[in-house]
Amino acid sequence: MNKGEKIDIPRSQRSGRESSSQQSEGFNGPRPTSDVTGANKGIGFGIVRALCKELGERGVVYLASRDEGRGEKAVQELKGEGLNPRCIQLDICNNDHILKVADYFRDTYGGLDILVNNAGISFTAAATEPDSIQAPVTVETNVFATLRLCRALIPLIRSHGRVVTMAGQLGSLAYQKLGPDLQKRFKTVSTEQGIVDLMTEFISAAKEVKKKELGWGSSNYGVSKLGVIALTRIQGQDIIKDSGREDILINCCCPGNVATDMSSHKGPLTIDQGAVTPVYLALLPGGCSHQGLFFYQKAVKDFWGPVSQNQLLNSDDKFALSQSDAMIPVAYNNLDSKTQPWNGFDPTSLTELSLFLLATVSHMSALRTSEYPKDLLSVR
Ligand SMILES: NC(=O)c1ccc[n+]([C@@H]2O[C@H](COP(=O)([O-])OP(=O)(O)OC[C@H]3O[C@@H](n4cnc5c(N)ncnc54)[C@H](OP(=O)(O)O)[C@@H]3O)[C@@H](O)[C@H]2O)c1
Repeated sequence: MNKGEKIDIPRSQRSGRESSSQQSEGFNGPRPTSDVTGANKGIGFGIVRALCKELGERGVVYLASRDEGRGEKAVQELKGEGLNPRCIQLDICNNDHILKVADYFRDTYGGLDILVNNAGISFTAAATEPDSIQAPVTVETNVFATLRLCRALIPLIRSHGRVVTMAGQLGSLAYQKLGPDLQKRFKTVSTEQGIVDLMTEFISAAKEVKKKELGWGSSNYGVSKLGVIALTRIQGQDIIKDSGREDILINCCCPGNVATDMSSHKGPLTIDQGAVTPVYLALLPGGCSHQGLFFYQKAVKDFWGPVSQNQLLNSDDKFALSQSDAMIPVAYNNLDSKTQPWNGFDPTSLTELSLFLLATVSHMSALRTSEYPKDLLSVR
């Protein structure tokens, strides 16, 4: 994709609120409808399980999977637990799938109430593909495909609906590593096309082996999640201007460091614990003002400024992360602003050193990721 080139999924022609007699049910009605992408395993599976439990018979929860067989197997597993999700096929990198899914929700339910953009990829540290492949493939799935899906499905979200996208602390760290000009651009970018342009620039830098020289840092996954966080901010600002619908909240989050295929099962959290913050955002009550924000442990992370220790520690979910775990990003961020730890760390105390080492271990384990499926290597 070249700079300035438009992402080619059309915004849905008809929004849910206009297209069906069922639209009056809405999120507060008897059958709120949810779609969780990449839900055949990992955190997405945990999110479907939690939404099924929270919504009960009142809701319809779709477990979206790019592979029908894997999706059906996951649905059967949850049915064995007495839950009742439904399966839908969706490869977010497949435009035909996206349009089919949008048609399905529009025609069957007149819209959608909860969209969780969970599907995502990361190359393992051991991956042998060159950066010129890893960067575009990572951005294609985590940013471009997510954006295309949002363009097709957000117009179907009814009043009081919620959109949640899975970002990650590594997006925050990637921001810290950007050169000042790029930091300013991410902070101020205000259109979806602006995000596409930034990501396209990043891909070009990777292909030219100039990422560091041009101020991008090194992490493809981190920059892709940074793109998601900035995109969420823009989507949140845009939805406020939609006068036809009310109380739609669009936010993103880090689930914490969760033991999944992506983390080579190294994270301390279970998938059910990783589902806590995204499900919290998916079920935010009416009257809530959270819009376009990045959350960690159910609390807003002031992503574009210094991390507030209070924000990170005010979670009421004591089980989600232990206090020392929660201190890791705080420590990292404090160190980052003082000492640029990845470039020349200069601890002033033993405590600071140990917290930095914990942050490093956490960072490294998050980088240990699953095998990347080869069939996604063609970038559209
Ligand atoms: N694990 C963590 O600690 C952590 C931390 C921060 C953020 N996150 C984010 O949380 C989300 C879930 O991660 P996870 O740890 O649960 O990873 P995971 O176990 O690897 O699961 C990823 C899911 O995404 C699906 N997926 C990948 N590409 C897709 C595509 N093109 N279309 C549809 N589905 C696709 C996978 O499907 P297949 O089974 O078919 O491959 C799988 O269901 C990701 O966005 C990740 O970046 C995870």
